[in-house]
Amino acid sequence: MLSIQQRMFGTLPSGQEVTLFTLNFRDQVIVSVMDFGATWTHFYGKGREGKLADVVLGFDDLEGYLQEDYQNNYCYIGSTVGRIAGRIKGNQFTLDGVTYSVPLNTGTIHLHGGMEGWDRKLWQSKVLEQSDLVAVEFYYRSPDGEEGYPGNLDVWVTYELNDKGELSIHYKATTDKKTIINPTNHAYFNLSGDFNETISDHIFKVDADAFLPIDAQGMPTGEILKVESTPFDFRKPTILKPQLESDHSQIGLVGGIDHSFVLNSSENSAELYHPTSGRRLIVHTVEPGLQVYTGNSLRSDFVGKKGVRYGKHAAICLETQHFPDAINQPSFDSVVLDVGEEFQSKTVFVITV
Ligand code: BGC
Repeated sequence: MLSIQQRMFGTLPSGQEVTLFTLNFRDQVIVSVMDFGATWTHFYGKGREGKLADVVLGFDDLEGYLQEDYQNNYCYIGSTVGRIAGRIKGNQFTLDGVTYSVPLNTGTIHLHGGMEGWDRKLWQSKVLEQSDLVAVEFYYRSPDGEEGYPGNLDVWVTYELNDKGELSIHYKATTDKKTIINPTNHAYFNLSGDFNETISDHIFKVDADAFLPIDAQGMPTGEILKVESTPFDFRKPTILKPQLESDHSQIGLVGGIDHSFVLNSSENSAELYHPTSGRRLIVHTVEPGLQVYTGNSLRSDFVGKKGVRYGKHAAICLETQHFPDAINQPSFDSVVLDVGEEFQSKTVFVITV
């Protein structure tokens, strides 16, 4: 009913081998992940009439992930993102009176952990098999001062597929010096399985009464606004197209959605549905926020799976996390991790018809 297999996915320029792990539930849900970047590479789910399709963007082999045009784009396809997902205002933060600066990797911004974030690290791996689940646990030690962040941080990211076909991603971390942490997974979903298509025909629902408006740099302004009477109101299932084409200034600023939603609860936090195929993705998370990114900056510079070049709105990212720039926003939940504490987080992805 549940199986796990592994094979070589490619070799890094350093000569280190990269392994792809494939977790399979009854040939109904198939998930592949690799140790480079603790990256989620494939996610097969059934549609109507049992049609299996891969619904996450990615590449057919490791070489795809190493293409210069892709690496220079910093678009994090399927990556584990850390230490801090999103942006940090002024590219610095202060902890116990000490100011730490973090390097800029995209223009004037430090994004998703910096120049060489967790998405570009080779993680250690361990396979776990039980009667009711199969899993791969990835481990990485982020050294003190890496990308400007304090503390040696030990991080575990575990992808687990259970006997109901549910995929969960667990995060755990400990530090030897006060630091900050806000990881996420950056999978790009398109439930049609055809990545030449955009996600504008998908129907989206988020259990969120409020969202975080952003400035021209994509940084949360610190305000928390009601979604009511805005194109960010997805409290009822809503087709994406008109929302993405809305003339609302917050949509115009980034050419789509690139905003955090303030989740009301961890029950069915978000739901994505593709009417033609019948595929539905349900997301539950313990995190307070969901950064929704509709692939606004995807450009067809690089070649993805099956030779497809991914264009604007080819997919949607559902990044469960604390709010971006929380360290500089006193009203947002804290992302500080102290010595002796354990960071824990969990998100579950369920694909159904
Ligand atoms: C960010 C976007 C960014 C994208 C790719 C998203 O999580 O919010 O602003 O362009 O990731 O890096």
